[in-house]
Amino acid sequence: MPNFHAKEVVVPKLPAFYGETTFHFKATAARGEELIFVTCKNEDFLLKIQKHKDSYLLKGDKISRPTQVSILQKALRDLRDLCSIQAYNSNIDIFKDRRVEISPYLKKIEYFANEFEEKRDILIEIGFGSGRHLLYQAKKNPNSLIVGIEIHKPSIEQVLKQCELQNISNVLILDYDARVFLEFLPSNSAKQIFVHFPVPWDKKPHRRVMSERFINEAKRVLQPQGTLELRTDSDNYFEYSFFEMMKQKKIEVRVNKNRDLEISSKYEDRWKRQEKNIYDITMYNFEDSPSIAKIEKLRFENPVDFRLLREKFEKKVIRGVDFFAHFEEIFEIDAQSGFLRVSFGGGERNEHNYIYITPSSTAYFPDNVLATKDNVNAHKLIEEILHGTCH
Ligand SMILES: C[S@@+](CC[C@H](N)C(=O)[O-])C[C@H]1O[C@@H](n2cnc3c(N)ncnc32)[C@H](O)[C@@H]1O
Repeated sequence: MPNFHAKEVVVPKLPAFYGETTFHFKATAARGEELIFVTCKNEDFLLKIQKHKDSYLLKGDKISRPTQVSILQKALRDLRDLCSIQAYNSNIDIFKDRRVEISPYLKKIEYFANEFEEKRDILIEIGFGSGRHLLYQAKKNPNSLIVGIEIHKPSIEQVLKQCELQNISNVLILDYDARVFLEFLPSNSAKQIFVHFPVPWDKKPHRRVMSERFINEAKRVLQPQGTLELRTDSDNYFEYSFFEMMKQKKIEVRVNKNRDLEISSKYEDRWKRQEKNIYDITMYNFEDSPSIAKIEKLRFENPVDFRLLREKFEKKVIRGVDFFAHFEEIFEIDAQSGFLRVSFGGGERNEHNYIYITPSSTAYFPDNVLATKDNVNAHKLIEEILHGTCH
């Protein structure tokens, strides 16, 4: 990521403008870490100044980073020039981002929360890895939409490139935790959900994609006759998933052993070479599920008194039954305004965010925290703590 070092940094009085960047204000933490709130190319984000022993590191803030690295690079160059900084160990003039950040196939979770509406049959593949099966399904079902969920960025890159090269137009890719994703889909909307060779997590079963909660959501999202299809080489995972699926009402579960599919993934080839057993469990849904409300952004009901919060602030983690909120750091803009850096969630997919507090408003920054079940629980806890009603 673009960054540079400096022996000395003197930021002039803000707000200031330089090049294509507006530098609005600075926020400072007790230990000296500084954030600068900027706007560049119509995007608001934070730059960070971190004090090291006898130097400073200047870089972008990960939580609020802009959609393209080139925008961050521009803002850092503008900061260097605004402050006439003698930069060293700098890559901001040469940094080349090779990641695909803009692709018609790549969607953000906000798209699924706000815009997603689909008339075609929907097929979902979770953890598609090399993407062989996903691309195969896309070609086999040109009139369906294939939604691929992955958290491994190089796999996402690879599949996006293949979609371009092979001119495949019925695929959407999402970089998000599959354990939470299904919450965003309408009820009775998917024809098939594939989970092929998920990581078995034998020692940490709570990290598995399959869980009672995931299977509940999958069943809600599946059309009547729709299927959730697990393919695995793990005896444990097979038994565990079978047991979890059988907790559902109005389903049929079919099991196959060592069935050949038309397409074999890299993992599957490896397990076959090792002569491992491969299990398929297919859960058929036979129920129409009630529709659910769209997932909105989380909002704070009442403004927070920053002065009071600043006085009482301590770094701490607070836990509820299945969720937590971690108060990491507080940054002061002036006596009445500042940022609180927090992480929170239910342990599956955690949010890292700032809460931007002024005398008239309190809001997440970036303002993109969606009301998933885990987030709603953690948010209630955060509100109670900010208003001093929970200790
Ligand atoms: C063992 S690989 C299997 C890949 C592919 N399905 C295959 O058969 O070759 C498991 C994949 O699931 C992805 N994965 C693991 N946990 C995930 C999660 N919570 N959400 C989305 N993808 C996940 C991993 O990044 C990895 O690519």
